[in-house]
Amino acid sequence: MVALDGPAGTGKSTVAKRLATALDARYLDTGSMYRAVALAVLRAGVDPADEVKVSEVADNAVLVVGTSPEKPGITLDGDDVAAEIRGPEVSLAVSPVSATRHVRELLVAQQRAIIADALDHVGGIVVEGRDIGTVVSPEAPLKVFLTASADARAARRTKQDTAAGRQSTVDAALADVRRRDKYDSSRAVSPMKAADDAVEVDNTELDLAGTVDALLDLVQQRGLRVTG
Ligand code: DC
Repeated sequence: MVALDGPAGTGKSTVAKRLATALDARYLDTGSMYRAVALAVLRAGVDPADEVKVSEVADNAVLVVGTSPEKPGITLDGDDVAAEIRGPEVSLAVSPVSATRHVRELLVAQQRAIIADALDHVGGIVVEGRDIGTVVSPEAPLKVFLTASADARAARRTKQDTAAGRQSTVDAALADVRRRDKYDSSRAVSPMKAADDAVEVDNTELDLAGTVDALLDLVQQRGLRVTG
């Protein structure tokens, strides 16, 4: 198993999927689970900052998350929500929702079950998030904390937004990157931080292929399975 943590804008999702494909392993995007709960909260008309109501919504939401690196997929109460959870409303609501203790307890339990199942049946899984190496799977044989400078992450975001036809400026992206970093690393429950024994990989100067290669080297150095 590979635990891949780090902030947004590092290319973490793309890197995690490519790594899983190269290793013939499963893939779990834990951020998509927090996003799906945030969508359930919005659909229920609940204030994302209301911990009691958010917890109730989370208890009643039926989430099914796929683990194929090619097409992970996620459903909420039977609806395919893979596209909707990437929208701006969900991106805003997910910070307070993911800071809710009960939501984290529920999702961490579900994540551990998915990981155990993948390890039993397939033999390998790459799991991406913020607290995988620290909380979800402290026993993971390889933990990577992927970072890049705030400027590099903001520039990547602006490029993505522009390519997708959304208006974007580097200044606004930088402000947003800093806001989310601060929120994710200062929350009381499971703040984002590197595990003591995580390998920190800074990809400010690396492209996606270079980052995947760096991680594949680490997998090999640890003697983890490479294929099959
Ligand atoms: O990686 P992402 O942007 O899809 O994550 C969405 C939000 O969920 C982000 O605000 C951080 C939070 N998150 C978390 O708290 N713990 C995780 N394991 C994964 C994501």
